[in-house]
Amino acid sequence: MCCLSYQQHTTQRATHVSFQAVYITVQDVEPKEIGMAKFFEEESHTFSEYLLVPGYSSSKNIPSNVSLETPLVRYAKGEKPSITMHIPMVSAIMQAVSGPRLAIALAQEGGISFIYGSQSPENEAQMVREVKSYKAGFVISDSTLTPDMTLADVLELKERTGHTTMPVTEDGTPTGKFCGIVTSRDYRVSRDEPQKPVREFMTAASDCITANARTSLKECNDIIWEQKVNQLPIVDDNGNLVSLVFRKDYDSHKSRPDELLDEHKRYIVGAGINTRDYAQRVPLLIDAGADVLCIDSSEGFSEWQKLTIDWIREHYGTSVKVGAGNVVDAAGFRYLADCGADFVKVGIGGGSICITREQKGIGRGQASALIDVCRARDEYYEQTGVYVPVCSDGGIVYDYHMTLALAMGADFLMLGRYFARFDESPTRRLNVNGSYVKEYWGEGSARARNWARYDLGGKKKALSFVEGVDSYVPYAGPLKDNVEGSLTKVRSTMCNCGALTLAELRDKARITRVSATSLVEGGAHDVMLKDSNSDMNFR
Ligand code: IMP
Repeated sequence: MCCLSYQQHTTQRATHVSFQAVYITVQDVEPKEIGMAKFFEEESHTFSEYLLVPGYSSSKNIPSNVSLETPLVRYAKGEKPSITMHIPMVSAIMQAVSGPRLAIALAQEGGISFIYGSQSPENEAQMVREVKSYKAGFVISDSTLTPDMTLADVLELKERTGHTTMPVTEDGTPTGKFCGIVTSRDYRVSRDEPQKPVREFMTAASDCITANARTSLKECNDIIWEQKVNQLPIVDDNGNLVSLVFRKDYDSHKSRPDELLDEHKRYIVGAGINTRDYAQRVPLLIDAGADVLCIDSSEGFSEWQKLTIDWIREHYGTSVKVGAGNVVDAAGFRYLADCGADFVKVGIGGGSICITREQKGIGRGQASALIDVCRARDEYYEQTGVYVPVCSDGGIVYDYHMTLALAMGADFLMLGRYFARFDESPTRRLNVNGSYVKEYWGEGSARARNWARYDLGGKKKALSFVEGVDSYVPYAGPLKDNVEGSLTKVRSTMCNCGALTLAELRDKARITRVSATSLVEGGAHDVMLKDSNSDMNFR
């Protein structure tokens, strides 16, 4: 391995690239020809093998001065990107991660979800529509009961979702005929039979205070205060449930300075597509109001991606924004940038639920892939005047990995496991051996059956082996609290590096590789922990 001293390397890099962090070890990214195959000279590395070396920070470097604004889509020099995010986070295009509820919660914090594409185009479009039609303060329930369900069902749902208030509709859907509402004041677990039907203890619709769908949020809140109720079901003229307004949410929608809205004040949302059914799927998603699309594929350095982008350009010009990927080197980046991708996603084999490397022996350490691609992006910008943002996808475990990925050049991060742990992800919360967990499965697992993501074309669609696993992740509570916590750390580290913006972080960051023994030194060591459950892995 080629190792330059810190000084040598700094000097050498400063002459030809101005917009990248300084690395203490050299990445030799050009594959070398040795015999038949081409070899990348460097080993490939992952985030845990690096650390940031603090730089000078002035008195202006305080977290409240840090901006995490970042471009989502390509733009030409001197212009502004058509979508800028307020935080550098997007949620993974996965069944276990990106449904409407998470999309709304993330947009409220300033990031974007990509609704999963491994469902019918109609269902996916409906999820996009749900996000676009969401009115702040009006909640669409995801724990709805029918009158025939039992107290046991109520308790099971409460355990799974953590919700204590549940609307009851005729067919059990969130927009079915409104029959009543159940709160924890309606039953006594110690006395009532588990088989007692919901219809016998719910507060029936005729006894509920409701409002019609034309009532403004302010009027709803006035009703809640005047009538001394904790929730207000919103019901349309046909008696169907529309949404609920909760007393506890009264202030929450007022304190969202970073929320990401379109010009009609609707939340911005993305959607996953594949390289097979785009002619049917894309029009439905665009009609539903999707702001940005992303081709979801395990391997993106392919003509299939070009054909998909070409089709979109032919039918929509550049008005429809579409990201592509995944790639792991400069050649893959340049190919997709030349195809017209609005952003390029990096990462093969690094996802927490991913077994692609074991199954197929392809991939590259996420840090090495990212560094290589980000250099290619900067060169592309210098040569063409077009900036194509890079998304680092997968493999983020610790919060500091986020800062490292951003320092290495990522414009934003795609996270799966991270978001799967939150209340808002579409999966069940379970109690396993006394601990709450949420389910999390890969798109390449037998459970997801997302063959289109792994297909290489041809008539036969079935995949004969899996590239992902089905798993549990520790339940972590509401998205807002966790995202705020993680980004507080990112901001703080940026200050230690003397950076107030992500561009400054890339410019000023000094990054060093760490040895296996210094990794041990970095955690708590040689002490007996008082709390044996304090597993920092999942913070
Ligand atoms: P995580 O944030 O480490 O959990 O990684 C999430 C990323 O893993 C996703 O955004 C995908 O790029 C990738 N991914 C999702 N499902 C699979 C799978 O089944 N096999 C391999 N990679 C996957």
